[in-house]
Amino acid sequence: MSFNPLKEKGIAPEKQLRSWHKIAHRHFNKYEVDCYTRTRQILMNGIEIEAWNFKHNFARITDNEEIKRFLAETKRIEDMQQTTINWMAPADQSVLETTLGYEQVAVDLTAWMAQNEPDDYVRETFNFGLLEDFDHLYRYSQWAYMEHGIDPDDIVQAQTDVMLSRPTQNHHNDNILRLREHYDRATATPQTKVNILTLVSGEQQTHNYYAEHGMEYGNECLRETYAEIKDVEEEHVTMYESLIDPTESLYEKLLLHEFTEVCTYNNCMEDEIDDMLKPVWEEFLAYELGHLQIAAELFKKYERRDPEEVIGTELVYPCRFKSQKEYVAKILETEIDKRLGLDKDYTVIKKLPDNWPSYNVQEKVSEDGAPTEMTIRVIAEQKDRDLIIASDKLKKDAPKLLEKGLETKALAPDTLTVDEYQAMSAKKFEM
Ligand SMILES: [Fe+2]
Ligand SMILES: [Fe+2]
Ligand SMILES: [Fe+2]
Ligand SMILES: [Fe+2]
Repeated sequence: MSFNPLKEKGIAPEKQLRSWHKIAHRHFNKYEVDCYTRTRQILMNGIEIEAWNFKHNFARITDNEEIKRFLAETKRIEDMQQTTINWMAPADQSVLETTLGYEQVAVDLTAWMAQNEPDDYVRETFNFGLLEDFDHLYRYSQWAYMEHGIDPDDIVQAQTDVMLSRPTQNHHNDNILRLREHYDRATATPQTKVNILTLVSGEQQTHNYYAEHGMEYGNECLRETYAEIKDVEEEHVTMYESLIDPTESLYEKLLLHEFTEVCTYNNCMEDEIDDMLKPVWEEFLAYELGHLQIAAELFKKYERRDPEEVIGTELVYPCRFKSQKEYVAKILETEIDKRLGLDKDYTVIKKLPDNWPSYNVQEKVSEDGAPTEMTIRVIAEQKDRDLIIASDKLKKDAPKLLEKGLETKALAPDTLTVDEYQAMSAKKFEM
């Protein structure tokens, strides 16, 4: 059901305070929750963190008393929403189990957006990042099995494949190459703006989660794996945020933040099958509609423009979670060898110049070895091979895909070669 969010009153911010019991009491059961309920919970935590953080940054650089008051009142509400959502994760969900949830968010969210993104260049960037998070899910799945003895399907519930992709050691770029062309705020659609802000929020929270939790494991190789993948998430934040037009005013950005919250909550509410979470999404949608009305008034007053010019007259759907195996397989088969070009464009491995700036970065960070390569060696030592969950065709194609997706220069000294992978993949993994 779509409606014009600028025409809805929602709930006023002064009615959005809740008791500690309401803020913190709910949690789901990790064995019973639907995997896409968990991905919604993970994503909306990231959305609230971004909303809260943006408002603090805005408050630090404005001297407008009216806006300061609005920010002061609502950033506490965003923060309380964040607590409710993040703390729905149960105490017995391990860091690695949560991590598989984060990477499932990245894969299935990015795949959904790529298929609904009207801007070709933005879509290409989504597809580029998609293959990297897909590889992270594979590396972390090995550790979830080795450290906690779990089948990755306990978390991803057979909705997302677990399979090698563009190897993580090849995700380390010169961060300047990650910078993309930004959209034009005057011509970009609300769908593009909301897609990007939603994805930036998710990637930023993924980075923060690894930053805060990777050190909770004593296993040296696993700690280093978190450090390595966390750094890729930093690159992802840099890449996706650079798609945003920096000439949007702060009022315009405020409007877009509230609109993104409205759209994501509405999307979650419509899709939710869990009786405990559905009313939460519904209530928070009403809160965000309340924020949006005020942000729209401030925009009209200080920018003298119509909010509809920025956000349109209807909702967009940035986060419809569903299985994307077919789409991901298609991108994997065709784009695994894609790399960042020198002019904010894309190229492929065989066209990279010898002085490609990312080679320097890769040589330095992997000079003692790449933990994400060692991950596969460690599980192969124990189980004769890696753990993958995919169609028979993808499994069969895996060595060929590795050959196509692995750079031949600047490789880590412990790189698992294509021949080694070929030999290993003929064996069977006994769960
Ligand atoms: Fe919020
Ligand atoms: Fe990732
Ligand atoms: Fe990512
Ligand atoms: Fe909000």
